Amino acid sequence: MEHKWWHSRTAYQIYPKSFCDTNADGIGDLRGVISKLDYLQELGVGLVWLSPIYASPLADQGYDISDYYRIDPRFGTMDDMDELLREAGRRDIRVVMDLVVNHCSDEHEWFRKACEDPYGKYGRYFYIRKHQDGDPLPCNWRSYFGGPVWSKLPGHDDLVYLHLFHRKQPDLNWENPEVRRDIYSMINWWLEKGVAGFRIDAIINIKKALPFRDYPADREDGLSSVDHMLFEAKGVLDFLNEMADETFRKYDAFTVGEVFNEKPEELPLFIGERGCFSTMFDFAETVINQGPEGWHAQKPVTPEAYKAACFESQRKTRDTGFLCNIIENHDEPRGVSRYLPAGTCEGPYAVAAKKMLGGLNFMLRGLPFLYQGQEIGMENTRCSRIEDVDDISARDQYRVSLEAGLSPEEAMEVVNRFSRDNARTPFQWDASDNAGFTSGTPWLPVNPNYRTINLDAQRNDPDSVWNFYRALIALRRNPDYRETAVYGQTTPYLPERKNLMAYFRRSDTQTLLVIGNFQDAEAEIPLPGAVRRVLLDNLNGCAVEARTLRARPWQFAVLDMDA
Ligand code: GLC
Ligand code: CA
Repeated sequence: MEHKWWHSRTAYQIYPKSFCDTNADGIGDLRGVISKLDYLQELGVGLVWLSPIYASPLADQGYDISDYYRIDPRFGTMDDMDELLREAGRRDIRVVMDLVVNHCSDEHEWFRKACEDPYGKYGRYFYIRKHQDGDPLPCNWRSYFGGPVWSKLPGHDDLVYLHLFHRKQPDLNWENPEVRRDIYSMINWWLEKGVAGFRIDAIINIKKALPFRDYPADREDGLSSVDHMLFEAKGVLDFLNEMADETFRKYDAFTVGEVFNEKPEELPLFIGERGCFSTMFDFAETVINQGPEGWHAQKPVTPEAYKAACFESQRKTRDTGFLCNIIENHDEPRGVSRYLPAGTCEGPYAVAAKKMLGGLNFMLRGLPFLYQGQEIGMENTRCSRIEDVDDISARDQYRVSLEAGLSPEEAMEVVNRFSRDNARTPFQWDASDNAGFTSGTPWLPVNPNYRTINLDAQRNDPDSVWNFYRALIALRRNPDYRETAVYGQTTPYLPERKNLMAYFRRSDTQTLLVIGNFQDAEAEIPLPGAVRRVLLDNLNGCAVEARTLRARPWQFAVLDMDA
């Protein structure tokens, strides 16, 4: 496999709104990010993905862009952005932007012009169709945030426009070459500026199966999940390869796709040697137990299901390329609250278990992508009233839960388990008011556990989650182990054994064995050979006797084995 500049780096996602606020308006900003670059360097991060900071009405927290060439004043100025790129570069940290081009904001100039003249040039930038009240809509797809994907075009009672997401996020018509050309120019403008690449939002949705038609309804609302359409849509890779040729490939840019629902045969076309992206996220764990009914029907993830999903992703990419390994992002609950059994974060083994989960994920083959706060073991938050929930998708799922017969209390439990707010509470820097995130009022309340879970408390504690993540990152950068940690193949070890997740990472010259005792109990784990060295463990030592590891509850270890 050809080595690329991004392969051995550890990536870190920043959700700017919740990272660090420097002007006391309660909203994190670019100057806040700049002020924490030393921190990121200390942690060992080599690549940063910034969630959207473009001009936006923030109907979907910046994933609704009204001007791709401007920074939203709430986040700062273009000068701040230039300074961030410069300062990050000085620390050998590359910066990746979010690329949101399935849709723009309904406040984007293109959409405004489309409303002024639906039959003119900009009308063709969107999907606009004739519709009379009382008639069926052009198709029965359900928007990702609930309700039909069609809304009335402002100012035109006889027209509707398509939005797979919120009604303030009209879908761009990728079939129109003018749209594609405008998007490519914008991408190149940012690459010229010095961004290292993009995380590419919701990209599978750009190809619609046309002409619009209904699919079988899958909920009481008579609508049908967009998934059915995506399954049928052909040709997304033609768009993506054109985009890559016109933009990324000219700059050796790093790109990571947010791709759900890819077809198995397409994987090499996405992330293979000549794929359209450098990599994409592994969502196999994220979608465990997900179904069309919605969040309320989703069962907790068992260790066995988690392990199976990870191993299946490792298997399918073995000869293809790299996926990005995550336990969470800004759209998902906190990984430690989701993948560890209920109660673990409240129990005596919380720290050990958080490290184990992080270690198992980090050591997989692929690119490790941390999400802000993961490195200090941040957990889900709680909200008691739906009015206090910010996340538009959580509000929709609250309604779906009520419609499915849950009581308001039960529906709030569902929201608390899955709300995107869980990951969006402010970063917990220290134990001072508002966790040191802001001296104003934070836009979303800080998780009350910040007095015990915060960076300041963990920095000087050698046994903290934070120092463990630092050690993981350092191991990946260590010249003695880098080749194996980055490129080594994964082979599951004792995959049938319950509550154990273990695997080899093998290169020509080395065999590492990664072991996680995924339970509250001790376990005797047979070893396949002699241990040369314990490279890393989460409990200040681990008991290796002859060919056995006597693992304590939630023990995690990386062992350098006699090959
Ligand atoms: C992606 C983003 C999510 C956003 C959606 C629409 O899934 O990660 O936050 O709501 O796309 O842009
Ligand atoms: Ca601010």
